[in-house]
Amino acid sequence: MIDVSKLAVPGSIEETLLDKIDLKRLPRHVAVIMDGNGRWARARSLPRVEGHRAGITSVRETVETAARLELGVMTLYAFSVENWKRPRIEVMTLMMLLKEYLRKELATLMENNIRFTPIGRIDGLDPTVQRELRYAEEKTAGNSGLLFQIALNYGGRAEIVDTCNRIMNLLREKEMSDAVIDEAFFSDHLYTANVEDPDLLIRTSGELRVSNFLLWQIAYAEIHVTKTLWPDFRRRHLFEAIIDFQARERRYGAVEPAEEREMFVEAEDGS
Ligand code: FPP
Repeated sequence: MIDVSKLAVPGSIEETLLDKIDLKRLPRHVAVIMDGNGRWARARSLPRVEGHRAGITSVRETVETAARLELGVMTLYAFSVENWKRPRIEVMTLMMLLKEYLRKELATLMENNIRFTPIGRIDGLDPTVQRELRYAEEKTAGNSGLLFQIALNYGGRAEIVDTCNRIMNLLREKEMSDAVIDEAFFSDHLYTANVEDPDLLIRTSGELRVSNFLLWQIAYAEIHVTKTLWPDFRRRHLFEAIIDFQARERRYGAVEPAEEREMFVEAEDGS
């Protein structure tokens, strides 16, 4: 049962927004492209890394809100395969912030019954980062609430290529190299095997790109873009995204049942 008192204080903007949300039609999986940390810092004449540091508060609030809303999955894009091209000091700071976050937030993840898992080419990360990730994953493995996925050293194309190689090895091992694979089998070998696809993809800072994020999985996701920069993203922005999501008509390539009935009547009329 969702406890709305933990999501908004009476009389707040959050409460007004929460009233507009149909709690029975929430997205099950929300994925977020956290963007705009650099611009947030530049606007304050601060080094870029300060934007990333400030972004941690948004991560904490967004994940906690998702857990309180009892969403199934939240996936945050924290570091892409392309992000290695950034200045060394920025990459090192991002990794340091991640380790700090994991250490400090583990208790909160446990309190909120959150299961944590990283996705991406995790073996390409520094061993100290891998150790922290493994620790958090193991400690939270028994939790049954929100699944919180962090995409690290992640690329959508890299995931598809890794999946192809994984499947080829598997079929070779089983001497089934002439097998024909289908979409369901392919999905079951992605980094996100057994995790439902995102219904809602949020991108902050106003850019209209998917930036190589969950390319296979977002095939039918609704996309919500907000101009808000990631370090300014708060609970109310997640509520706004959900309100926008609920206003969309999701047809998965079909037509609305009402529209289908109309077509049928027209055909019978001969019109
Ligand atoms: C994009 O902003 C953001 C990132 C590349 C990193 C996101 C990382 C964090 C919020 C902190 C660490 C994460 C966790 C989960 C603890 P940008 O730097 O590309 O911004 P810009 O486009 O304005 O330059």
